[in-house]
Amino acid sequence: MKGKNYFVHESSYIDSPVEIGEGTKIWHFSHVLPNTKIGKNCIVGQNCMIGPDVKIGDGCKIQNNVSVYKGVELEDFVFCGPSCVFTNVLTPRAFVERKHEFKKTLVKTGATIGANATVVCGNTIGKYAMIGAGAVVTSDVEDYALYVGVPAKRVGWVCKCGVVLIHKEEIKGNAKTSGNGLMITCPNCGSVYIFEKNLFYPLEEKI
Ligand SMILES: CC(C)(COP(=O)(O)OP(=O)(O)OC[C@H]1O[C@@H](n2cnc3c(N)ncnc32)[C@H](O)[C@@H]1OP(=O)(O)O)[C@@H](O)C(=O)NCCC(=O)NCCS
Ligand SMILES: [Zn+2]
Repeated sequence: MKGKNYFVHESSYIDSPVEIGEGTKIWHFSHVLPNTKIGKNCIVGQNCMIGPDVKIGDGCKIQNNVSVYKGVELEDFVFCGPSCVFTNVLTPRAFVERKHEFKKTLVKTGATIGANATVVCGNTIGKYAMIGAGAVVTSDVEDYALYVGVPAKRVGWVCKCGVVLIHKEEIKGNAKTSGNGLMITCPNCGSVYIFEKNLFYPLEEKI
């Protein structure tokens, strides 16, 4: 695709109309279906299918073997690990048309979905949340939460930079008491979070 400010490997198919942002790269054997919008500086790996009618923000990384179906929306900087699975019908049957029953899945800014994890449709993954490899997400996931297992449960909280700051009961960052909770500083990037009453949020979001 010479002359375009994005790259599509010659083995991939881009249907029309599709919008692809500047700096995005789409690698081998992938297919983008109509009315799909992919933002700037995204990377789509090998053997991916995106669309139709899908919106993907800027800076997303979609690793090999991922299908982003109609009904799924990725905000900015979402990481989809290799072979992770989205769904859009809750109770599919081969012999029943369920196209009008698509349930939405929203993955918010900065979230990570681990390799081979499955996201059951109808759920929202919060910003900067992290889903462990192989998890099956069957509920909404809070911002900054770490979910693992089948069905996926919350086992901790993660910094924006990706460092796990709380795992089960163990605090991994630098903590000091603050009001009724804890103020936790990420040893990697210095971001500060408040952890109180089962809530975890950046200090700057404290009201
Ligand atoms: C979930 C995850 C973020 C946890 O990272 P971590 O905190 O460094 O994990 P640790 O290795 O310290 O493990 C902590 C505990 O969680 C468990 N655990 C780790 N990953 C798990 C997973 N995916 N599912 C279930 N349990 C998991 C460990 O067995 C350990 O259990 P224990 O406390 O009973 O011993 C990480 O293991 C993971 O799955 N990352 C995704 C990797 C990936 O898919 N990358 C894709 C791009 S290549
Ligand atoms: Zn950090």
